[in-house]
Amino acid sequence: MGRCPSCKEWNTLIEERAEPASDRGGKPSMRTNWVGDHGVRALSEISSDHRDRFSSGIPEFDRILGGGFVEGSLILVGGDPGIGKSTLLLQICGRTDRKGKILYVSGEESQAQIHMRAERLDIDTPSILLCSQTSFEDIAGIIEEHKPDLCIIDSIQTLYSESLTSAPGSVSQAREVTSGLLRIAKSLLIPIVLVGHVTKDGTLAGPRVLEHMVDTVIYFEGDGAGPFRMIRAVKNRYGATGELAFFEMTDKGLIEIDNASSLLLSGRPINAPGSVVTSTIEGSRSVFVEIQALLSPSSFSTPQRMAQGLDRMRLGMLLAILEKKFLLGINNMDAYVNVVGGLRINERSSDLAVLAAVFSAFRDIPVRSDTLVFGEVGLTGEVRPVNFVERRLGEAIALGFANCVLPGANKQAIEKLSKKFASDSRTNTADHAIIALPEFIFVDSLSEAIDVLFAPGR
Ligand code: TYD
Ligand code: MG
Repeated sequence: MGRCPSCKEWNTLIEERAEPASDRGGKPSMRTNWVGDHGVRALSEISSDHRDRFSSGIPEFDRILGGGFVEGSLILVGGDPGIGKSTLLLQICGRTDRKGKILYVSGEESQAQIHMRAERLDIDTPSILLCSQTSFEDIAGIIEEHKPDLCIIDSIQTLYSESLTSAPGSVSQAREVTSGLLRIAKSLLIPIVLVGHVTKDGTLAGPRVLEHMVDTVIYFEGDGAGPFRMIRAVKNRYGATGELAFFEMTDKGLIEIDNASSLLLSGRPINAPGSVVTSTIEGSRSVFVEIQALLSPSSFSTPQRMAQGLDRMRLGMLLAILEKKFLLGINNMDAYVNVVGGLRINERSSDLAVLAAVFSAFRDIPVRSDTLVFGEVGLTGEVRPVNFVERRLGEAIALGFANCVLPGANKQAIEKLSKKFASDSRTNTADHAIIALPEFIFVDSLSEAIDVLFAPGR
């Protein structure tokens, strides 16, 4: 069939041949219980297994993992081709705590290519063993023989199991090989990292189909257009999810960035209409981003709504609220809203900043560039409170923002924070006299926020 009868898309179907069980050559891998313990017991009788962790040698990567590699865990690292997966993993091979033996299986690049990259990254460890096999059965044998401390598989899409007839990269092959590797990881207590390319067309099995099988799923986010790279754990059986780590791709590989906000804001136009800074919470950190908006008269019967890094549906809703309140006529205009830097915001706290940016673009009046704006906006135009205010303001202080437009309902949290500041001796010493709280402007509605932000003389 050329067209999927369910989603109506063309050329999205993948052929997968059903394998009769008898053809599996006595390898009932799908039925194997790799977590051990077949019996039924009371939960209280079972002692927890505290597995050892060890460092990847890259503190930000350890943080994403929840404190380093856990023995026997299976980790999937996904991302667009060329974004830096192989680079990051080779760097980990060179820096990890466990210097005993590391097996790097590459089905994508020749050993000479990997050697060249290692030279570039200044990695020169005799403990790294390279292997360019693609047969799962051979690789399993090699892992069992060498029992490495860490094993990297680059990439899962190049591997195939001899027990299946389908081509490498197909969904069934990727699943079969992953379940085999899971069994090896659990039984030999070796952490195994799988690389999976995110593919746009349906010809190769993307990492998504493997997410449920592995312990940890880490994705490279963003478009990879600039030097910034962001990685995030979207699933983690051994730690928190949602944590985001920032890296910069340099000629010496990926380098950790600890001042992500100032880098994301660097180069932003100062006092330009259509640009507003907001804060977003990523895991346990606050990250500041610039929101940009552009409006132009539409030549389409249905005006365009383009959102990069934001939910398009939410943008549509926000524009409808703005239109209802101010009758700007944006229903006949194309609206483009971007989160600069490739970050994707899933929080509603950026609503107010998005609307301020659109209004600013419409009126061609800038919002003062030392202003931070955050708050959720409801359908009646009310501004609702956001969480983690302290974290957001801590970052605002560090970056020297002079004022902050925020929900009135967050007033109590701010008062607590101000008191804490007043009583904190550090803020009163000569060294810290420069630390100043921004001016807080509390707003309860969108109209109030627009009045404050665009008041003449501001
Ligand atoms: P790579 O790790 O091969 O990507 P993936 O495995 O995700 O497909 O990264 C490839 C890109 O990274 C390539 O365009 C070159 C660039 N790069 C650097 O900029 N600096 C470096 O030190 C290295 C090794 C690669
Ligand atoms: Mg690669």
